[in-house]
Amino acid sequence: METKLYNNEIAFELSTKKIEEERQGETLAVERPASVQSNGKKFYIESYGCQMNFADSEVVASILANAGFDSTTQYTDADLILINTCAIRDNAEQRVRNRLQGFNIVKKNKKGALVGVLGCMAERLKEKFLEEEKIVDIVVGPDAYRSLPALVEEAETGQKAVNVLLSREETYAEINPVRLNSNGITAFISIMRGCDNMCAFCVVPFTRGRERSRDYRSIIEEAQDLYNRGYREVTLLGQNVDSYRFSDDKTLVGKRLVEAKYEEGVVNFARLLEMVAQIAPDLRVRFSTSHPKDMTDDVLYTMAKYNNICKYIHLPLQSGNSRVLEMMNRTYDREWYKNRIDAIKQIVPDAAISTDIIVGFCSETEDELRDTMTMMEYAKYTMAYMFIYSERPGTLAAKKYKDDIAEEEKKRRLNEVIQLHRIQSLESNKADVGKAFEVLIEGTSARDENYFFGRNSQNKVIVFPKQSQQPGQYVQVKVTDCTSGTLIGEAV
Ligand code: 5AD
Ligand code: SF4
Repeated sequence: METKLYNNEIAFELSTKKIEEERQGETLAVERPASVQSNGKKFYIESYGCQMNFADSEVVASILANAGFDSTTQYTDADLILINTCAIRDNAEQRVRNRLQGFNIVKKNKKGALVGVLGCMAERLKEKFLEEEKIVDIVVGPDAYRSLPALVEEAETGQKAVNVLLSREETYAEINPVRLNSNGITAFISIMRGCDNMCAFCVVPFTRGRERSRDYRSIIEEAQDLYNRGYREVTLLGQNVDSYRFSDDKTLVGKRLVEAKYEEGVVNFARLLEMVAQIAPDLRVRFSTSHPKDMTDDVLYTMAKYNNICKYIHLPLQSGNSRVLEMMNRTYDREWYKNRIDAIKQIVPDAAISTDIIVGFCSETEDELRDTMTMMEYAKYTMAYMFIYSERPGTLAAKKYKDDIAEEEKKRRLNEVIQLHRIQSLESNKADVGKAFEVLIEGTSARDENYFFGRNSQNKVIVFPKQSQQPGQYVQVKVTDCTSGTLIGEAV
């Protein structure tokens, strides 16, 4: 399976190496359960976009395997080619369209081969996709994956098949995802779906629908099962994990008393995090994404309490200027964000913080960009994902504001923030030289087969010469050198 993570962005050059190292695990064929008879057909799936999409592809693989499909890692070999798409920026969509052209050869050479588009772009374009891209036979939105086997049957009769219904309940809770491209050590667990925030620039609330939380019992079960199978790190995924809220009593879920940790009958994020951390002291727990408006001190105290909850918080800033934040409808201002950074530094002093930044949002001035950069200096991000604003049809910003910063100017601004981030991440890495960290070994370095790579609790990638250790083990590594993207060390 080919994997791509937003790497069409210039900004992502900074982290591509990291992603390659994270994603270099063996490509595993998907196992069809022994009890399920093969239907003689093979599927191929390729994923783009966020971690959530990669997690969704694993749910899709599980649904298809249970319906009798076998998998293939060569699309030329497939009867069913699936592409799980991202709609967050225009260039993510262009990339998918180009890729679809490549699939044309299979359609020409293999009679009856079907092409299906899944995910956010499917949801955004719906039936229009079929008109725009003749090669597409099936269009399925993020909440309709259970209907995929039926849609394939429908498409086999020569009709075009579409299901883009969004749901208020679907969490795929009891579907045990098939781990694709897995290193057998780290895995994602999706804990909720959708998003109820209405950030003005963002298409996600339209493509992934309303926010809903998955039953905590199925989350714990999945994490426990991964641990039993040798996995040593889970990342809990949601668009806004801080608003996770599950109760058997549905009347309690609507109320947002997120401050109360042990609120009667309700499991909130701090509680969920604690329950996952209690599975085993050597199971690392990560989570993403936190929202500055919802991140409670409770979550921070839980992080501080458990050694196996990794000291790393992804806290998107978007902009450091209060006027721009207001236009973005982020519902916090510069002071509030600063206060959250202060809380992290006070309660979890060894935490690393990463962020998302958008430059060139409608009417952003040079001075307002400076506010973003001074906030970067204040927060000292160890990692930043930096983007040029891309207007998305149907969003609040597209309706209300003019996309008035010239493309060249946006690029210049992006380069400025990238330069600043590069300097900062090098500084942060240099400050780690001489320190020793506990590292979970994830596999062999993509650069040098004599080196292992793994990450410390702060999510920094560390490479070090192999000795007798094995992937999945924890080792103490002393950092001896670094680049702006990687720490280099030796086991002690
Ligand atoms: N243009 C540019 N970046 C965007 N993001 C979301 N929507 C847009 C857009 N329209 C960025 C935000 C978000 C990350 C996942 O993608 O920074 O946090
Ligand atoms: Fe988009 Fe905002 Fe929801 Fe994140 S929190 S998915 S940026 S609307």
